[in-house]
This record gives sequence, structure tokens and C-alpha cells, in this order.
Amino acid sequence: MSAPESRFVKACKAQPVDRTPVWFMRQAGRYMSEYRAVRKQYSLIEICKKPAVAADVTITAAEALGVDAAIIFADLLLPLEVMGLDFHFSAGEGPVIERPVRTEEDVARLRTDRAADLGYVSEAVRLVCKHFGPRLPVIGFCGAPFTLASYMIEGGGSRNYVHAKKMMYSAPVAWDELMRKLVAVVSEYAAEQVRAGADVIQIFDSWVGCLSVEDYRRYVLPQTTKLVQELQKADVPVIYFGTDSATLLPSMRETGAEVIGLDWRIPLDEGWRRLGHECAVQGNLDPVLLFADWKELKLRAEDILRRAAGRPGHIFNLGHGILPETPVENVKALARFVQEHSARVSAR
Ligand code: CP3
Repeated sequence: MSAPESRFVKACKAQPVDRTPVWFMRQAGRYMSEYRAVRKQYSLIEICKKPAVAADVTITAAEALGVDAAIIFADLLLPLEVMGLDFHFSAGEGPVIERPVRTEEDVARLRTDRAADLGYVSEAVRLVCKHFGPRLPVIGFCGAPFTLASYMIEGGGSRNYVHAKKMMYSAPVAWDELMRKLVAVVSEYAAEQVRAGADVIQIFDSWVGCLSVEDYRRYVLPQTTKLVQELQKADVPVIYFGTDSATLLPSMRETGAEVIGLDWRIPLDEGWRRLGHECAVQGNLDPVLLFADWKELKLRAEDILRRAAGRPGHIFNLGHGILPETPVENVKALARFVQEHSARVSAR
């Protein structure tokens, strides 16, 4: 850990802080001219694999926005490569996995012995921690087994998750083995980020909302809980984030993650109530509100802070990542507003 006393880390542990910490998912990305300039020189994967460049992208975004945490620049899908699945990003289409996992034999072929080959990510974490020291906490991250499995099986993004659900329903042994292998690789990968200095690990379960509560509990919760427990052995708070997850929240809470990320579809206070107030929450402004005029944006940010009601354990964020084309000035103004407004309220 590099900044254990920071207000972000304290808020993750639901401890009282002087004001609400704020950071944004995808805070380094195409909406930012500095990032676009780096992307003229390198592909996304090249940036991830050059620790000095990845660290620089991470630091530049966090400093430009004045946020309370830096998230390491990497991609969710990097572990696929060390498990033996090649992928690329195609313009307009997003990630494409060249030979998706469809059968029990495909699952059997996946390797779990090369997580150490992702050392370039922990190297970037080390550089960012060295840069910020105790001044700013660093968030490491990994994909949740369900969301990673969905990319592996579907071969890319998906609308109905037909192939992934088909494996769950008709080849449950293969599905469980795939989830087990993912947890083995990802927990080693994330633990290495913690050893390099990451203060908190966020698990992205971006597409978990396509599941019914029953299927989540049966096919996803056990291995996700295992992942959370493995990360907690490394002694850092865990943020577990999903979207479209309103009905899943009580089950997601059962993983034992210290913080649950909420998307914008549920009012923050309602989501928090469903989880119980012992747990911390992160969220949950609709990222599209950053395209609105400042007056509306400010009102909506204020509403989220009002719903959090100054309770310990709120981290301000969006309900999902910043979109390309988002006006940078609004992101900066939002961070400043959350910091100033919540400081005023807690000083009262
Ligand atoms: O938050 C940050 O600033 C850290 C960087 C980060 C990236 N990917 C870099 C990236 C993080 C946290 C991710 C996670 C990620 N990657 C997720 C989970 C987060 C979420 O939004 O739910 C997912 C599903 C992926 C897989 C992925 N990578 C997709 C679907 C895409 C979009 C494809 C596209 O062309 O828009 C990517 C590409 C990607 N990863 C970009 C960035 C900044 C887009 C910019 C680029 O191509 O340079």
C-alpha cells in the first residue's frame, strides 16, 4: 500500500473522512487530448505493455483532473493472452478474441501458469506509486470471472450472451472449470499489483447485469466470492463493480467486497439501502450527464451527494466509464464541485 491514510482508502473502509473522495472509471482515455497524443504513437496494447508509458498516462490523467485516486492504465482483457487466447481491438467493433472458447476441450487448453507474464502491469503500478508516494492512492484492477468468461466465450462484446449462457446451462462442469481457472490467474495478477503498491483493487463485472439472480447465485457468486477472498488475503479493500445490477446487489454484497460500485439506473440511497449501510458504495452519476450543461450536471451531482447524506463510505464516481467525446472541462469541474461541496457540508 502506498497511501493507506488517504481519504479514498479510508472511505473504502467506511471510515469517516473530511470530504467525499472522487475519481472516474476510464479517467484516462480518448476524451483527453493528452491520451490521444500518446495513442498516435502507440496502440492501446503497446501502452499497456510499456510500464513507463502506462504510468505516464495514469499520472497525467489523475493530475489533470485533480481526482482523489489514480487507476492504473491497463485493459481488462490482458489476462486472456497469458491464458492462451489472442485478441485484438478492431476499430468500431471493440475487442475481438480470435478463437473463442466454446467446448470443454477449449477450457482444458487454457493455461493458468503464466500470470507472472503480466508483470508489466505491476511494474507500471510500481512507477505510479513511486511518483505519488502517500499523496495519492493507486487503484489496481482486474476483470471479474463472469465478465472475462463472457468475452472469452462470445469472442467480443455481446448483446444476449447466448454462447456464455449456453455453456453455463448445458456444460456446467466446463463453465465451473473456466471460472476456476480465471480466478486462479486473476487473483495472482491482482495480488502482484498489490505487492507493487496498489492501495485498492477494483473488480470490474461490467456485464453481470445480464444474469437473473438465480443464475448469478448458482454460476457466478461462488467463484467471485473466492476471488474477493483471495484479494483480501493481500490486505487491501476490494471494490466490486457491475452495471444493470439493481436486482443483484444483495447477492453481490455476499462476496464480502468492502465497496460495491453502483450504476446510475438505481438511486444511490436505494442501492445503499439494499446493500446495507455497513458496506461502502461507489457511484453513481450517469456518464452521459457529462454532456449536459453545467447547471444540470451540478444539480445531479448534488443530488447524489444528498442521497449519500454524509454517511461514511461513499466514493463519488460515475455509474460507468467516461465516454469518448466527453468534454474534459466538465469532468474537471465535476471533480472540483464534489470536493468543494462535500467539504462544505462536512464542515457544517
Ligand atoms: O479507467 C481507466 O482510466 C483505466 C483504463 C482502463 C481501460 N480499460 C483502458 C482502455 C480500464 C479500467 C479498462 C477496463 C475495461 N476494458 C473494461 C471494464 C470497464 C468497463 O468500462 O466496464 C472492459 C469491458 C474492457 C474491454 C475493452 N477495452 C473495451 C470494451 C474497449 C472499448 C473498445 C473501443 O474501441 O471503444 C476497450 C478499449 C480501451 N481500454 C480503451 C481504453 C482507454 C479505449 C481507447 C483506446 O482504444 O485507446
